[in-house]
Amino acid sequence: MTARRRVAVLAGGRSSEHAISVASASSVLQALDASRYEAVLIEIGRDGRWELSAARQSLPDAEGSGIASLPVVADSAPAQALGHVDVVLPILHGPFGEDGTVQGLLELAGVPYVGAGVAASALCMDKDLCKAVLRDRGIAVARNVTLRNGDRTEHPFGYPVFVKPARLGSSVGITKAHDEGELRDAIALARRHDDKVLIEELVPGTEVECGVLGNRDPIASEVGEIVAHAEWYDYSAKYDEGGMDLVVPARIPADVAERVRRIAVDSFIATECEGMARIDFFVRPDDEVVVNEINTIPGFTATSVYTKLFEASGNPYPDLLDRLIDLALERHARRSRLEY
Ligand SMILES: Nc1ncnc2c1ncn2[C@@H]1O[C@H](COP(=O)(O)OP(=O)(O)OP(=O)(O)O)[C@@H](O)[C@H]1O
Ligand SMILES: [Mg+2]
Repeated sequence: MTARRRVAVLAGGRSSEHAISVASASSVLQALDASRYEAVLIEIGRDGRWELSAARQSLPDAEGSGIASLPVVADSAPAQALGHVDVVLPILHGPFGEDGTVQGLLELAGVPYVGAGVAASALCMDKDLCKAVLRDRGIAVARNVTLRNGDRTEHPFGYPVFVKPARLGSSVGITKAHDEGELRDAIALARRHDDKVLIEELVPGTEVECGVLGNRDPIASEVGEIVAHAEWYDYSAKYDEGGMDLVVPARIPADVAERVRRIAVDSFIATECEGMARIDFFVRPDDEVVVNEINTIPGFTATSVYTKLFEASGNPYPDLLDRLIDLALERHARRSRLEY
């Protein structure tokens, strides 16, 4: 029998999506097969402090390297207790987790980790930059203007428009603005979360999402349709009981679903994602497929959209975790052979 792999799950984090991350991480810990994985939870507080969970009691005295050499936790009791780690699962959403910062730290520490690398994480976190890359590859995205601090708030679109912080998730800081007055308030709200703000044209039609899994040869999941029980898919529609329904497969023609899946994979490759991503789309009434955004660490509980889409595609949650861990190790081994 081979030794169990030591898996460190990073949860929480500094962003406003802290609580969602904790829920995802707790599902992951439950789903990891205990006969093959020794899991340890590292919680990152809203204040940015890293802490080993109570699970450290069960850890043997650690030698080895890996995450113990991370600057943030070096010299701390948790770092000494943690010891060698085979792979890290950063189950973090938003800034300081999904945006390449933690990924950079893990690169420096030389530890394999699940999901997109530094550049893809940073790119996909930034809705403005991500659209630029997708547009460049001929992938349709919603038109927008980008406001940086001090920019005038003019836009060429009719109302309503969507106003968003460039780098956040879970609909936090987003407003559907119906007139100029609401636009002003919407920009003020978005600016509390980011100094870069997008005003986007409204894309009418059906909202669908597609999961992607893989490194060099990624596969797409079934396409799911989001039915939000609200004017749009806002925070409460996402997380309140009964706030939304996920319809799988989406009620769109088969050839359109196939196009969504193809564009999902194309977008994943164009942005150099690895491991996993959930790509969010609009399908216009004329069946044009428009990418809304890419999530490199999507909600990851046992009942999250990404999980359900792969379940419907024949990949149950524990298998999905196995696959993601294998992909992390594969990338690490491949990159370790490179000469820099
Ligand atoms: N241009 C648009 N046209 C129509 N609806 C939009 C548009 N932009 C956003 N929305 C609505 O707002 C929701 C949230 O937008 P978006 O996905 O960009 O935010 P997010 O906070 O990054 O979400 P996530 O939780 O997926 O990370 C969308 O799911 C959709 O319902
Ligand atoms: Mg989204």
